[in-house]
Amino acid sequence: MKKRILEMLRETSQPLSGQEISRRLEVSRVAVWKHISQLKQSGLAIESTARGYRLLTIPDTPFPWLFGPRSALIHYHPELDSTMNRAMDLARAGCPPYTVVVADRQLQGRGRMQRQWQSEEGGLYFSMVLRPTLLPRVCPVINLAVALDLVATLARCCGIAARVKWPNDVLVDGRKIAGILSQMEVEADQVAFINVGIGLNLNNRPEIADKPAVSALQLTGRRSNRAEILADFLDRFEARMAAFSRADVLQQWRERTITLGRRVAITTLRDSCEGLAVDIDDEGGLILEMADGARRTVFYGDCFHT
Ligand code: BTN
Repeated sequence: MKKRILEMLRETSQPLSGQEISRRLEVSRVAVWKHISQLKQSGLAIESTARGYRLLTIPDTPFPWLFGPRSALIHYHPELDSTMNRAMDLARAGCPPYTVVVADRQLQGRGRMQRQWQSEEGGLYFSMVLRPTLLPRVCPVINLAVALDLVATLARCCGIAARVKWPNDVLVDGRKIAGILSQMEVEADQVAFINVGIGLNLNNRPEIADKPAVSALQLTGRRSNRAEILADFLDRFEARMAAFSRADVLQQWRERTITLGRRVAITTLRDSCEGLAVDIDDEGGLILEMADGARRTVFYGDCFHT
């Protein structure tokens, strides 16, 4: 009901009378009043005058009822330890694909390579549960697809031109605006689920130790609407997955990366290597040309452009 009231208010800039809303929804005016009061309590700016109700601003908080047909899949929390933990519980309990856990802030946000992910208010922090029918070894390509769709969402919603860096960072002028972390569970050689966690610096002011980072606010001077950005990304990503083409993802990634053609150093928790990044392979591995001309493919690690 709240979702439908909100949709009506979003459709018009004019005040909408309680009578009109109750007529369209076939509920009493008291019921309309109660729902509007609850919407206001949850932080929505709704003006009530003698002429009716008017939505002053579109909420930035990713309340499930803002997400139309996918609202039942959105699990919103003001605070969590990590959206990855909650997504893992839901995935193991058998939740449907495209279940999303989103939090305003995380107390133990995690990054790749056992790092922390700074998660104060203003950023967009979410994890998606995916159940792709892909072989486990090609699943890193999903992370590349996520990075590409984040680039598209940043362009569309914030006017920001971002690029991708192997393995799955999103950068603007060498500064990190988004990071991606994924966790996969495999059963009998099949992917049971892959949880993809995304941290997007929007209205926060990130500081990542020894790596430059930036937010949309710092780049544009404007606040972004987290709920709209999440909806844009989910629409885009779900459409891509519905018609998934590994070849398309790889080609688009090649066109939007700053890694290829650069000398890079790759470090893992165990070792490191250096070479010229010449291509990515069909599984999302980075192909390096070493000093002796031999080629080597790396599948994970931190990538430093030297
Ligand atoms: C990276 O190191 O670049 C990956 C960062 C991933 C951060 C996101 S925020 C939402 C989700 N929950 C976490 O604890 N981590 C991921």
